[in-house]
Amino acid sequence: MKLVVAITGASGALYAQRLLDHLRGQEVHLVLSDYAKEVAALELDGGKLAVPDGVICYDNRSMRAPFVSGSTRFDAMVVIPCSMGTLGRIAGGTSDDTICRAADVFLKERRKLILVPRETPYNLIHVRNMERLIEAGADIIPATPSFYSRPQTVQQVVDTVVARVLDHLGIEHNLAKRWMEKES
Ligand SMILES: Cc1cc2nc3c(=O)[nH]c(=O)nc-3n(C[C@H](O)[C@H](O)[C@H](O)COP(=O)(O)O)c2cc1C
Repeated sequence: MKLVVAITGASGALYAQRLLDHLRGQEVHLVLSDYAKEVAALELDGGKLAVPDGVICYDNRSMRAPFVSGSTRFDAMVVIPCSMGTLGRIAGGTSDDTICRAADVFLKERRKLILVPRETPYNLIHVRNMERLIEAGADIIPATPSFYSRPQTVQQVVDTVVARVLDHLGIEHNLAKRWMEKES
């Protein structure tokens, strides 16, 4: 698959790290907002994202990226974690940075756009923006972990969300045990 992964400044840099770790073998184009770097510095061991070999990185202030035009074919874009700021700007169609323009392109081209928002509680503006985005064709997969698989570590908790993102991308994984799945 040819994918865009965008990381923004919501809490949950580990969601992005785990997704990148499980996209090996795919063509991944990566863009981080400035606040994504700030949050990663606080939340990740080593103070920054470990970008896997082969991932192609872009500046969030440049339109010199293939995925900001509908003329280049891509399969899907994931914004993980997605701040309410970026979510609101995508819902408003501002296209004012690389991430927002790319998301705008994916919506207009009817390509898969997955947003992984992280905020609590939601205000009405957040909910209305999510409603707008679902109506426009985006998939909203909130960073809301599940616990029925009895995760034992923070990474396993995080993986319950990353597993759902991979499912929606159609990428095989065995990151989290499925409901009623037999022990192997
Ligand atoms: C440590 C830290 C944690 C944050 N967590 C969240 C969060 O969980 N959700 C959110 O919507 N914004 C969160 N923010 C605020 C965003 O970073 C801020 O709104 C920023 O403007 C988002 O910009 P971006 O979407 O371009 O990354 C957090 C900021 C910091 C510094």
